[in-house]
Amino acid sequence: MYDLVVIGSGPGGYIAAIRAAQLGMDVACVERYPTYGGTCLNVGCIPSKALLESSHRYADAEHEFADHGIQIGDLELDLDTMQERKDSVVSSLVKGVEFLFNKNGVDGFTGWGTIVDTNTVEVSDDDGDVVETLETDNIIIATGSKATELPGAEFDDEYIVNSTGALEFDEVPDELVVIGAGVIGLELGSVWSRLGADVTVLEYLPEVFGGRMDEELAKKAKQLFSKQGIDFVMEAEVTGADVDDGTVVTTYNHDGEEKTIESDRLLVGIGRYPFTDNLGLDNIGLETNDRGFIAVDEHFQTNIDGVYAIGDVIPGPMLAHLAEHEGVVCVERINDIAGHVNYDAVPDVVYTHPELASVGKTEAELDDAGIDYKTGNFDFKANGRARALNDTEGFCKILADADTDEILGAHIIGPHAGDMIAELAVAMEFASSAEDVARSSHAHPTLAEIVKEAALDVDDRTLNS
Ligand code: FAD
Ligand code: NAI
Repeated sequence: MYDLVVIGSGPGGYIAAIRAAQLGMDVACVERYPTYGGTCLNVGCIPSKALLESSHRYADAEHEFADHGIQIGDLELDLDTMQERKDSVVSSLVKGVEFLFNKNGVDGFTGWGTIVDTNTVEVSDDDGDVVETLETDNIIIATGSKATELPGAEFDDEYIVNSTGALEFDEVPDELVVIGAGVIGLELGSVWSRLGADVTVLEYLPEVFGGRMDEELAKKAKQLFSKQGIDFVMEAEVTGADVDDGTVVTTYNHDGEEKTIESDRLLVGIGRYPFTDNLGLDNIGLETNDRGFIAVDEHFQTNIDGVYAIGDVIPGPMLAHLAEHEGVVCVERINDIAGHVNYDAVPDVVYTHPELASVGKTEAELDDAGIDYKTGNFDFKANGRARALNDTEGFCKILADADTDEILGAHIIGPHAGDMIAELAVAMEFASSAEDVARSSHAHPTLAEIVKEAALDVDDRTLNS
């Protein structure tokens, strides 16, 4: 009899299992694939960041090195090696999860986890044969999400692909069309654009990132991505795609006309849906919302006692660090330890170049809520380290309550924005004022000084601009 069975070994599930073991619970984790780590480690965060890093270095060698006085002659792409490096980064990390399970005494099982009743999880192979029956006091569902398919442009995993396919291309497409100017479209679109593909993004909405990022950042990002060579067709409604003799023909409505565009490959990045296949939700009457997400309370308890859910399969942003955080809090609550997730202090990062990073409220959200706020801005151009890097496009914006000076939101576009936002997420977790950040010492010369100067600017007293 286990204290806890976790279904799914992504960042939500594997971290929940480890934290539960640390707290003395007998824990099992069931994963349908042969490697642990879920979407994030196998086909998401990690392989995409590996390719973003490699392709960024390639683009730097092509466009930036000469400015630093480095001449390298003919530049050559070895895509096989780039892909092998990505695969080895993934494989070392998924093995790391196995190591952590062993170290913490978590029992891992390979197969589909199906809830039979609130105390029983069956593990089955792909043929549906039950290979193990696990008895347990508590169950955490951490089964994550899958790429949404566009009707009329179904995935064929060769020409019409989702993110998993776009991480695996064995040659650079001459032309790549991307449906969706969201995080996946722009991260993976950037990878292939840097490596030489002509990339065109078709997006339904008028702006990139669909309101997920502060409008000023989204506008700046689109301008910079366009400069890098990515073409955008905004307010384009894609109606379908066909493959004709190795060419993908995508049809879309734009400016009141039906248009087509041809490409070697089509990446569909239009969002992800909660994955609950074979989970046995009906066996226990577990409720989902109208979009298929598992409904939970603030302690991640579903409508059924002792059955919890975390990560992409519940409503809210689909982020690996959020899934982990929810996993830890969920397990701690089961063990009567106080804890909660402060959704206002969860950073959100897009790993393009420049990076975009955001925490807390956007200007639009504060305007909608009728909250008075002050704004502090600072440009990367005025920062010594950014100049030394030769990477000066971007700015940091801090939004603070007009009366109390408490930081309500922070938004950065620029190199290393994803690392810089951590300071502001911690500041928000501690309910800091902009003045607290402005009065803290920041090493010189670092990009972090941009955050300090933006905090000073909330009170109109920047020192270096
Ligand atoms: P998942 O990671 O999806 O894990 C769920 C696991 O459950 C899977 O391994 C699945 O096989 C297993 N499973 C499902 N059903 C069953 C069952 N019945 N029995 C047994 N096992 C089952 N987020 C970030 O924060 N930063 C990033 O840079 C980032 N980059 C991304 C890039 C891409 C290309 C993609 C696709 C996603 C990216 N994400 C990123 C999102 C991130 O991957 C997810 O938010 C995160 O993986 C969610 O974790 P999870 O544990 O909820 O689910
Ligand atoms: P997304 O929701 O970020 O973007 C999808 C985009 O597609 C939206 O802009 C939407 O308007 C557009 N769209 C939808 N239907 C369309 C149509 N028919 N025609 C044209 N455009 C259409 O979803 P995405 O990029 O697929 O990412 C899925 C999830 O994965 C996200 O929720 C994200 O959190 C996670 N992820 C996170 C990353 C990160 O944190 N850096 C990186 C990659 C993914």
